[in-house]
Amino acid sequence: MKNKSLVSIDDLSKEEIFRVLDLAEGFEKNPNQRILVGKVVATLFYEPSTRTRLSFESAVNRLGGRVIGFSEASSTSVSKGESLKDTIMTVANYSDLIVMRHPIEGSARYASEVSKVPIINAGDGANQHPTQTLLDLYSIRKTQGKLDNLKIVMVGDLKYGRTVHSLLMAMSQFNASFTFISPKELQMPLEYKMYLDSIGLKYNETSELADNIKDADIIYMTRVQRERFSDPLEYEKVKNVYVLRNEMLKETKPNMKVLHPLPRVNEIHTDVDDNPQAYYFPQALNGVFTRMAIMAIILGLK
Ligand code: CP
Repeated sequence: MKNKSLVSIDDLSKEEIFRVLDLAEGFEKNPNQRILVGKVVATLFYEPSTRTRLSFESAVNRLGGRVIGFSEASSTSVSKGESLKDTIMTVANYSDLIVMRHPIEGSARYASEVSKVPIINAGDGANQHPTQTLLDLYSIRKTQGKLDNLKIVMVGDLKYGRTVHSLLMAMSQFNASFTFISPKELQMPLEYKMYLDSIGLKYNETSELADNIKDADIIYMTRVQRERFSDPLEYEKVKNVYVLRNEMLKETKPNMKVLHPLPRVNEIHTDVDDNPQAYYFPQALNGVFTRMAIMAIILGLK
């Protein structure tokens, strides 16, 4: 990983994933290590973000580094027509590492090809969100004590939700079994199901939520991604299709955890928040330690 971009979770071997998770554990125990003193990290966010941008920036600050960047491309020369390539080539002169979120699938790969400093993909359209996946893996291992042989139930917008695509690819390395719960319009794309078929991993596909969560180790809820719909009426049809409520969790496994990459809209009722099975806010905290580890490894500091 040293000096390399992180564009897709598929870029990482199992050993590299474990290295990130083990190092993140060390940062959780001791977060104030000033190993980034003298380093500048650029955060270029062409799409809105709360957790990803701020957890990266928190991680850099806690490790003693400096952050430059933007959270709205409209305030930059992008609004004058500057290309992604020119922006990346310029910002690469000002920083040691670029963290980028962009609405176009493949933009992070393209940026990595034109940049002289490593690019970390903080989400490219409906494609991938690999650092979210690493913090999800960290959260799963921390709560379940292992990554192997788990039952993962994914719920909601499985078509446009990039976090479920990255998580499926990662958990497929650990002999997971999957249940995909979504309306017909938002099913897991065929390419991912074909991939699971090709490696012999089991999955079920259904549109019923309540009856399909009892044997889950992880329920991974997702928001319907309004910004990816070209027709607002189509979004209106599916926006509130699933709402997870506390009473629905009564017969689930005691150690089952509810994860959500956040932000949530209505898909997890707030009455779940006080249930010890709700893990989405600790999950967001784990993003700081995981992103510390990713940056430390890429910059060759650990
Ligand atoms: N999970 C996640 O990507 O959240 P943000 O959109 O707030 O960064």
